[in-house]
Amino acid sequence: MTPLIPEARANVHLIDHPLVQHKLSLMRNKEASTNSFRRLLNELSSLMAYEVTRDMALQDVQIETPLETMNAKMIDGKKLVFVSILRAGNGILDGVLSVVPGARVGHIGLYRDPMTLQAVEYYFKMPKNMEERDIVVVDPMLATGNSAAAAVARLKECKPKSIKFLCLLTCPEGINTMYKEHPDVQIFTAAIDRELNSHGYILPGLGDAGDRIFGTQ
Ligand code: URA
Repeated sequence: MTPLIPEARANVHLIDHPLVQHKLSLMRNKEASTNSFRRLLNELSSLMAYEVTRDMALQDVQIETPLETMNAKMIDGKKLVFVSILRAGNGILDGVLSVVPGARVGHIGLYRDPMTLQAVEYYFKMPKNMEERDIVVVDPMLATGNSAAAAVARLKECKPKSIKFLCLLTCPEGINTMYKEHPDVQIFTAAIDRELNSHGYILPGLGDAGDRIFGTQ
């Protein structure tokens, strides 16, 4: 088993709310149907969105209540970009956008070249003015961490204000990789599982998240 680097662990926000833990356990069950897996992922993603947006800046906006004028606090959702790592990241988008409907969305697609083992980008589409925006990268599984770290490196070329990483599940290997390559990136997750198997799957995990979301097993 790979030991978790203590400094890397300090970058991880474990979302241990009972509702999050309960829904995650339902998703892990191999008997969960595609329909319920997707619905649970939606619900979990909205709950996790509360945690990942906890430090979002607020601005004072003057509004009229039925009784008087006041300076009310509001967030500018359009400054936030959720970046989905294709394809499983798309399963998180509906849930997080139900909580922050004004956020923008980017997509990044990477595959690992079997010869060089390097991450090769096949799709990259981001909103304009990324240097004014905070990014939350979404992918249900932070497993080896290699494609996640490559996605973050590519996104840093856009010079965003900040980058966070939101996943359902991770493991020591994924956390260590992200920390070694991007010690500035905070990880938000519902669980840190035991280890990776030799095929790069998280144990005990929940299987292939993309297949379970899209019913392609
Ligand atoms: N990706 C998945 O979908 N599941 C894993 O366990 C690891 C990577």
